[in-house]
Amino acid sequence: MGVEICVEGLTKSFGHQVIWQDVSLTLPAGQISVMLGPSGTGKSVFLKTLVGLLKPDRGSIVIAGQDITELREHDLYEVRKLFGVLFQDGALFGSMNLYDNIAFPLREHTRKPESEVRRIVLEKMDMVGLIGAEEKLPGEISGGMRKRAGLARALVLDPEIILFDEPDSGLDPVRVAYLNQLIVDLNAQIDATFLIVTHDIASARQVPDNIGLLFRRELVMFGPREELLTSEEPVVRQFLNGRMQGPIGMAEEKDAAQVEQELAQIDEVAAPAVMTPRLLPSTGIDRPDRWKDIARREQEAVAK
Ligand SMILES: Nc1ncnc2c1ncn2[C@@H]1O[C@H](COP(=O)(O)OP(=O)(O)OP(=O)(O)O)[C@@H](O)[C@H]1O
Ligand SMILES: [Mg+2]
Repeated sequence: MGVEICVEGLTKSFGHQVIWQDVSLTLPAGQISVMLGPSGTGKSVFLKTLVGLLKPDRGSIVIAGQDITELREHDLYEVRKLFGVLFQDGALFGSMNLYDNIAFPLREHTRKPESEVRRIVLEKMDMVGLIGAEEKLPGEISGGMRKRAGLARALVLDPEIILFDEPDSGLDPVRVAYLNQLIVDLNAQIDATFLIVTHDIASARQVPDNIGLLFRRELVMFGPREELLTSEEPVVRQFLNGRMQGPIGMAEEKDAAQVEQELAQIDEVAAPAVMTPRLLPSTGIDRPDRWKDIARREQEAVAK
């Protein structure tokens, strides 16, 4: 049922610049978690640290009983096979058609015969709705198709963990809605542990089981979706409601007096904390245990 990732006291800096410190959280096995945070708070750095592409200064990342921060390069290579990563820009090779792009990890990391490669590539292309586009070059297709191609490539090694770095950036609202449904369906189908970085508040509210928020070099909060959606914490409220009023400013930080004044002005009646329903897996690929699990938590949240 996917793997749990347990992060404890994680700190990362580049030179003298601390990106975030003392980050602790557990990504529950098989669940979808979202990481939010203003630009430049180190969300991409966090994903890269989880896969072992960047080394933290301190702290541990325990995956399947192994602290991956202590592994040597050779063993890390093995651990990385557990991950599928959808990078911020899709990271497709421009000179390769979609088929070869998606086949790349299989040809690189396995010795499967081409017939098997073909079966897997077509299966994943089908899952993300790209059948028929095998011969297209990344430059010839839309941003939405590139994202889906990146996703198909992230799926070919049957990962236990999938990291998505802004899968919805640059997509129109309808494409985002389709992508969100695809993510929820995939999660129900393959049962991996998902972590999604996004700036899209609507997605953050509907898609995950858990939400985290990075701000001012700290993980402000991480927990079940409903807890953050109804949180009174000013940073969390501001971010999840996309407001100007609050601790987060254009250049990230504001002075305390201004924040006080702004928060006092928010009309709680006009702008109450809202629980958004969670997006459910499409019927047909539903998994009774997942459904029950999600429905139970929804019910508990509403009852509070
Ligand atoms: N390899 C690196 N060496 C030095 N500094 C880096 C490196 N990678 C990232 N940084 C710095 O770390 C900080 C966080 O960057 P990161 O890309 O993780 O932010 P982000 O939260 O993903 O932002 P966005 O929402 O805009 O994608 C930035 O100040 C960036 O300049
Ligand atoms: Mg980023």
